Amino acid sequence: MNNDTSEKGYHYTLAPDLKIHRIVNGMWQVAGGHGYIHHESAIEEMMKYHEAGFTSWDLADIYGPAEDFIGEFRRRLSERKGKEELDKIQALTKWVPHPGRIDYPIVKENIQKSLSRMGVDSLDLLQFHWWDYNNPYYMDALKYLSDLRDEGIIKHIGLTNFDTERMQIMMMDSGLQIVSNQIQYSIIDRRPEVKMVPFCKEHNIRLLAYGSLCGGLMSEGYLRKMQEPSATDLDTLSLRKYKKMIDIWGGWSLFQELLSILNEIAQKHNVSIANVATRYILEKPAVAGAIIGVRLGISDHRNSNAQVFNFCLDKSDYDTIDAICTKSNNLYDMVGDCGDEYR
Ligand SMILES: NC(=O)c1ccc[n+]([C@@H]2O[C@H](COP(=O)([O-])OP(=O)(O)OC[C@H]3O[C@@H](n4cnc5c(N)ncnc54)[C@H](OP(=O)(O)O)[C@@H]3O)[C@@H](O)[C@H]2O)c1
Repeated sequence: MNNDTSEKGYHYTLAPDLKIHRIVNGMWQVAGGHGYIHHESAIEEMMKYHEAGFTSWDLADIYGPAEDFIGEFRRRLSERKGKEELDKIQALTKWVPHPGRIDYPIVKENIQKSLSRMGVDSLDLLQFHWWDYNNPYYMDALKYLSDLRDEGIIKHIGLTNFDTERMQIMMMDSGLQIVSNQIQYSIIDRRPEVKMVPFCKEHNIRLLAYGSLCGGLMSEGYLRKMQEPSATDLDTLSLRKYKKMIDIWGGWSLFQELLSILNEIAQKHNVSIANVATRYILEKPAVAGAIIGVRLGISDHRNSNAQVFNFCLDKSDYDTIDAICTKSNNLYDMVGDCGDEYR
């Protein structure tokens, strides 16, 4: 679902002062476990994403040097192109605290750390994660984050990996203003469709989807690979994470069936399997953007991912994809609502 009527649908207005690219560059991949990231090459690569129009970044305080990379990238961009160019960047970070007692000074100190690392006066979007619902301090944390938003050092508050039940409490019982929730959402992981999407539609909250490419498994590289890869064959943390999800979803041979029909659809539209997988999620209600992981300086799929905006899936594409997925297990029953895989 796109709310950008002015161009090809590259952008989504999350809030009046926050327009993001619908493909957000995911920076978990710089945090380790995804190959060696060379600092200097990474910053130059960020310049290339920016030049290509991919101006939105998803990061977190816990993603290794990601916030520092944003700081360095901004300094360099400002030197080369002038300060005004910085207005084109959207850097969506997260605060992922250890569960424990939370008070205002703790929240402020952590947010100030992110501001200083990223070299900004205020955060475009602060996405809040909480590991343990049995620890009730997350509601306090959200209240203090709201205070910081009112003070102007956070522009908007989002969540990541919260389930519908907790969002209901936040929105309806406590009146918190939340613009987004970042969750796993892909052709194979449709748990959001059970409760999250209807709730978000009703309350005008947008979803930022990750895992839509299953770490790269949803691509030609794994098509017709009938031999199931072992954990050691998969050389990134992301590939290993989503391979486990595929195992729960229905296993490798059903996944091969899915890849095969995604390939047929991709060929019909003259695009790639990854493009079809991304487009499928971007067209879903309440979805503002798909976060696609970038291994800066190692691999680059900018040109391919730009193709996502050059085609639309038709009804027969949806029917074919959905027919395969009806053969899978029900991830909602097996794993739970969004984010439950982390708890
Ligand atoms: N909130 C959370 O808990 C959470 C959890 C996970 C991820 N995330 C966010 O989501 C981001 C995405 O990460 P992810 O782990 O879910 O990975 P992903 O986006 O599903 O997969 C990224 C990988 O897909 C491959 N790829 C990208 N475009 C492609 C294309 N056009 N054709 C073929 N392959 C392509 C690349 O693999 P190669 O590099 O091998 O070519 C890339 O490294 C993270 O960086 C992070 O920002 C958030």
